[in-house]
Amino acid sequence: MLTLQENPLRVGLKQAKTPEPLILVIFGASGDLTQRKLVPALYQLKKEGRLPAEMTIVGVARREWSHDYFRQQMRQGIEEFSDGIGKEELWEDFAQGLYYCAGNMDEGESYQKLKTFLGELDGKRGTRGNRVFYLAVSPKFFPAAIKQLGAAKMLTEPLKHRLVIEKPFGKDLSSAQVLNRIVQNVCKEEQVYRIDHYLGKETVQNLLVFRFANAIFEPLWNRNYIDNIQITVAETVGVEERAGYYETAGALRDMVQNHLLQLFCLTAMEAPSGISADSIRGEKVKVLQGTHLADIKNLEKSAIRGQYTGGWMKGKPIPGYREEKDVNPLSTTPTFVALKLMVDNWRWQGVPFYLRTGKRLPKKVSEIAIQFKNVPLTIFQSAAQQTNPNILALRIQPNEGISLRFEAKMLGAELRTRTVDMDFSYGSSFGMATADAYHRLLLDCMLGDQTLFTRADEVEEAWRVVTPALTAWDAPADPNSIPFYEAGTWQPAEAEFLLNRDGRRWRRL
Ligand code: BG6
Repeated sequence: MLTLQENPLRVGLKQAKTPEPLILVIFGASGDLTQRKLVPALYQLKKEGRLPAEMTIVGVARREWSHDYFRQQMRQGIEEFSDGIGKEELWEDFAQGLYYCAGNMDEGESYQKLKTFLGELDGKRGTRGNRVFYLAVSPKFFPAAIKQLGAAKMLTEPLKHRLVIEKPFGKDLSSAQVLNRIVQNVCKEEQVYRIDHYLGKETVQNLLVFRFANAIFEPLWNRNYIDNIQITVAETVGVEERAGYYETAGALRDMVQNHLLQLFCLTAMEAPSGISADSIRGEKVKVLQGTHLADIKNLEKSAIRGQYTGGWMKGKPIPGYREEKDVNPLSTTPTFVALKLMVDNWRWQGVPFYLRTGKRLPKKVSEIAIQFKNVPLTIFQSAAQQTNPNILALRIQPNEGISLRFEAKMLGAELRTRTVDMDFSYGSSFGMATADAYHRLLLDCMLGDQTLFTRADEVEEAWRVVTPALTAWDAPADPNSIPFYEAGTWQPAEAEFLLNRDGRRWRRL
């Protein structure tokens, strides 16, 4: 059996950058993700000429839709959530490859029916038995769908059959282990693509380029020069229409275990030996293995949760989390989390990584801020000459870019210093907007490149890191024991204290 690296098909595909003819089967075809993200991203790939002529997409969901109705729905999604249909002939060509097959996720018969239908499409469309099965469904259906795909022998050929699994992958370490076992029973790891859409963001991929294609930062990228690292993913939105899911998840499961820990890994990992999927993912696993909450015995010194109460944003009143539709009025689900992580290795010993994320914060902003140590001796001593530590800020979104903050002499006869920024912005340097994450992720899974997908051991290690906080916060507690913050403010006071205790402050964003 060929390994993925030796697989000539994959190497060829990587060079050609156009996938082999294939059928992409989307489970959850009537859902939001398909209409808002997946199909618009596929259509964008079509516009760019990145899809094979034989490209075929089969939507699967419970509702009894016709092929034509599915096509109409997808067209609506493209019109509403991307920059439109463009040339009508292009849409016609794309729509010819769109099909729908009604089915029930946990009934064997539906999979047999699907299998037969896919076989017919192979003959009609020339898709050669190549399949990507995309589970864009509620996570409660993952186990049944994966087992059924296995039982129907639809994942038997590693070089032809792939499985894409949306997040969340499990709801804690043990459920993720169980899910991994279910997956491993029906296919090989090289067939599996676990989605974390943050890895599809250009700015996140640029972390690798920034760190490993430039010589000047590496000598400074360690405990000798770095004082602390702050990773913030702030959102202005609340729980929206997703309370059913969010009430069972909360910010630690929804954002930290996946997106923030991925940002952390790419910031903290060692240089991989190459850009193959396994060398990069291997380094991420290694750094996670050495990572833990700063003080597990006194959790409040390393993990803070919070929940938004009513407040004001942009002049409008905002309801508190407990007042949102379908939320338990005594819910203790965290909508904000701040963690202090430490990494036990030679590079990072003693350097805290502060991570925070929350909903209903004043600004939508994601960034990684590397705060360097201050100068060993200040020779500019008056208040007007005080110096601040250098900060390298990697802006993930919006206003994507990188800035380096340093001290400069102000113009004039007096010796006064001021903090200034040296700035790189994607928009002005490349003159184009960054693509949607799904655009890249869909192309990569069709090409068979797993670099931007999480591996089984990686997802488990990430769960392990957050387990002490999950365990404590999942335990029944007094509903008022959760710290609150007003919608439109940055965080509960406890989260400020997490850094103040160390003589530090959160960066003002
Ligand atoms: C999703 C979470 O994974 O990421 C959402 O489930 C969150 O709760 C979203 O809003 C944030 O993604 P982005 O790309 O807007 O930062």
